[in-house]
Formats: sequence, structure tokens, C-alpha cells
Amino acid sequence: MSIELDESLLVGHEVIDKDHRDLVPLVNVFLASIKKGAGKHSLYDDVDELSVKFSAHFERENQLMAEFRYPDTQAHLAEHKALLGDFGKFLQAVDDATDDEMVATTKSIEEWFLKHIAGSDKRLGQYLREQAAKTKG
Ligand SMILES: [Fe+2]
Ligand SMILES: [Fe+2]
Repeated sequence: MSIELDESLLVGHEVIDKDHRDLVPLVNVFLASIKKGAGKHSLYDDVDELSVKFSAHFERENQLMAEFRYPDTQAHLAEHKALLGDFGKFLQAVDDATDDEMVATTKSIEEWFLKHIAGSDKRLGQYLREQAAKTKG
């Protein structure tokens, strides 16, 4: 359980790719903590930090979508909201959750991250590149 941001996950937009590069190690620290059965307090702190960092990243993507009138903004925002919801659920459940539940939530966070970047963020990156090319031309 460790995420690698290889070429195939670059979206081709400097700001977004930089954010993703910064987020990956944080997600990996979290995944590693779960794996080695870290105490709930440290997991709580990890997810709390992830939640703050992801919110800031989502805010930057939101601004780009608004600025360039991205047609798929609503669907994209809904995906961001779903992840923040998962973080919230994790934080609420952390005291009572069984190890299996923790692993399941972790898995869904990891899957969300890879799927969202490979799909929605890449489409957004492509759109932003097209818009930049238009304004240049
Ligand atoms: Fe996104
Ligand atoms: Fe993103």
C-alpha cells in the first residue's frame, strides 16, 4: 500500500501536479501508519493534516475551474466532497472502528486518490491546457 506518482498520473498542469506531488508522501505516511498499526491518536492527526492539505488543494482546483469556466465543475466538486466526507467519517469512527473497518476506509481513500487523479484531474488538466493554448493563439 504505497502510491507512486509516475508519468501516467501527471495531469500536465504545473500547479496541480505540484500539489499532487506534495500530497502523495502524506498519503503514503498515512497508509504506512495504518499498516503498522499506529495508535489511533497518530492516525487521527495524520487524517486531520491530510484533510487540511486536501482542502487547500481542492480550493486551488476550484479556483482554476471557476476562472476557466470548466464545464464539468459540478461533478468534479462532488468527487472532492466525497473524499472530504470519507476523511470526516474516518475521524468520527477512529475511536470505535475495528481494524478491518480502518483498512477498508484506508483502501477507499487510496483508491479515490488514484482514480480521481487518473480520471477527473487529468481531464481538467487537459481542458486547462487547451484553454491556455487558445489564449496564446
Ligand atoms: Fe480534483
Ligand atoms: Fe487534484
